[in-house]
Amino acid sequence: MLSRTLLRMGRQRPAAMLPSFARSYASSSNKKDDTTHFGYRTVNTEDKEKLVRGVFSLVASNYDVMNDAMSFGVHRLWKHHFINRLDAGMRPGALKPLDFLDVAGGTGDIAFGLLDHASKNFGDVSSTMTVADINPDMLAEGKVRYEASKWNDGSNRVTFLEQNGETMDAIPDASKDVYTIAFGIRNFTNIQAGLNTAYRVLRPGGVFACLEFSHVDNPVVDYAYQAYSFGLLPLMGQLIANDRDSYQYLVESIRRFPKQDDFSSMIKKAGFYVPEPGYENLTFGVASIHIGVKL
Ligand SMILES: C[S@@+](CC[C@H](N)C(=O)[O-])C[C@H]1O[C@@H](n2cnc3c(N)ncnc32)[C@H](O)[C@@H]1O
Repeated sequence: MLSRTLLRMGRQRPAAMLPSFARSYASSSNKKDDTTHFGYRTVNTEDKEKLVRGVFSLVASNYDVMNDAMSFGVHRLWKHHFINRLDAGMRPGALKPLDFLDVAGGTGDIAFGLLDHASKNFGDVSSTMTVADINPDMLAEGKVRYEASKWNDGSNRVTFLEQNGETMDAIPDASKDVYTIAFGIRNFTNIQAGLNTAYRVLRPGGVFACLEFSHVDNPVVDYAYQAYSFGLLPLMGQLIANDRDSYQYLVESIRRFPKQDDFSSMIKKAGFYVPEPGYENLTFGVASIHIGVKL
């Protein structure tokens, strides 16, 4: 099965199991550390992007159904709150429309939600939206939704772009006003590079906003949440999408993501001003929102 092959690529022999001559290479202080994590596995850094692509290619066609099933629809409430909290859109009387960039945009929930908010609240029907994602299969699902939506109105305000969020080579410096990323950045091989890139592509005054799974601050809730995510989610992946391994990775990748304060420090390190208290927890910290402003 493709998913097993992809996931197996990530398995490595622990150093202790290597022959002694190889162990000395592995522990050489001159050797650059070229490994990273893929869920709970250690993989070669250069392989992670391929592995992540593989996971999202496998889940793409079931992504929206699975999101609803696994979160009991709560992801919709979080996304709605995220979009309202951002409250972005060209205000009446403003001279210039906004340029939105939704990175790891997948099937377009955040991108279409932002456009909807801007149009309903500010009558903004001119701001542009770029939906960027590393995975063509996820983008293809987003395009299908777009084509059937009211945003497909001939104005060409929405564009889809296959790009790695760590580099965003196709996006010029200081060219965007709002950078959003939802449930995407934990999959990056180099999260700090992704944050630095967000800073690069935003104009001064531009806003970075991230919605991501996070860490529960209440031990009792955390116990129940861990039992649910490690016990039930992979099983649901197996039963609904016939793909246990991808959902196991998704659960593990959440645990590996930095804690709220640490992630906040990384956003500051990229150059952003982070308004106090640094982040907003949703559902006891199951997810959190981080905002940064490029001054
Ligand atoms: C869990 S989905 C989230 C999709 C959408 N933002 C949402 O909230 O429904 C994660 C997305 O991140 C994308 N992704 C993973 N690594 C990426 C990278 N390095 N650059 C850009 N997109 C990436 C995946 O292809 C996938 O579409």
